[in-house]
Amino acid sequence: MSNETLQELFGLAGLRAVVTGGASGIGKGIARRLAEAGAEVAVCDLNAEGAAAVARELGGFGVRSMSVGGSDVSDETSVAAMIAEVREELGAIDILVNNAGIYPTGPVAEMDVADWDRVMAVNLRGPLLCMRETVKVMRAKGKGGAILNVSSIDSMHPSFVGMSHYGASKGGLNMLTRSAALEFAPDQITVNAICPGGVETEGTQEAFGDGLKEQLELRIPLGRVSTPDEIGGVSLFLVSPAARYITGATLVVDGGYLIS
Ligand SMILES: NC(=O)c1ccc[n+]([C@@H]2O[C@H](COP(=O)([O-])OP(=O)(O)OC[C@H]3O[C@@H](n4cnc5c(N)ncnc54)[C@H](O)[C@@H]3O)[C@@H](O)[C@H]2O)c1
Repeated sequence: MSNETLQELFGLAGLRAVVTGGASGIGKGIARRLAEAGAEVAVCDLNAEGAAAVARELGGFGVRSMSVGGSDVSDETSVAAMIAEVREELGAIDILVNNAGIYPTGPVAEMDVADWDRVMAVNLRGPLLCMRETVKVMRAKGKGGAILNVSSIDSMHPSFVGMSHYGASKGGLNMLTRSAALEFAPDQITVNAICPGGVETEGTQEAFGDGLKEQLELRIPLGRVSTPDEIGGVSLFLVSPAARYITGATLVVDGGYLIS
């Protein structure tokens, strides 16, 4: 029996986290929960104003927070600068949440190569670059770490027609998660993925408003889409010390959608 308290197992006091795409939706929900659990959080996003606003809000939890605005996860130089800035200001990085992602539509038969490449660049190359840069910082400290990749149920099943690039990028992310988990295990750095089903966010607002939400909910056994806060809670568990023996896992968080 361990002597760790529940607070130590599920809390993040003294840990430093990076959340990409943290200005909005699921990323904001995750950043809030991590800060509430005691982590110092760097909110990174293309949207500088939004990232700064979320970072200010996190201060309300009594933790140090910062934002890196204008950082593009698909861009090598931008990611290197982002991680260097976080390391400089927070001193170290213990947790990385790769959440930034885009989900445009476009049928296979009419796929624009630039659209395909952009989805792959943000959703798949982005997590790769962020892991590559962050792991250097984690290894230098030698205290392990936790990486969480925000994938999607679309990595396993096409939820809607016309999202082949999105599904392929997230399927790739699941495999990237497993490969990275294997490579980083000797450093006690875990790498896991969550696959949310429908979540009501700024990004899905418009599509959900067009009746998509009701259409989805008909197929969800729990009868409703999820919230960023719910995804935040599951994410908190996967980056907490309580989950330190979980690596290479892909956790579906979809209200039962995939079993229906
Ligand atoms: N909302 C859902 O139903 C749902 C379901 C499954 C998975 N997801 C995944 O969750 C993640 C977040 O989705 P959301 O619905 O909260 O989206 P959202 O559009 O509300 O927020 C995404 C955030 O990422 C930022 N971003 C976009 N491209 C970026 C880039 N290149 N570099 C840095 N930041 C960038 C945006 O500025 C925005 O703040 C995505 O990876 C998405 O694929 C969402």
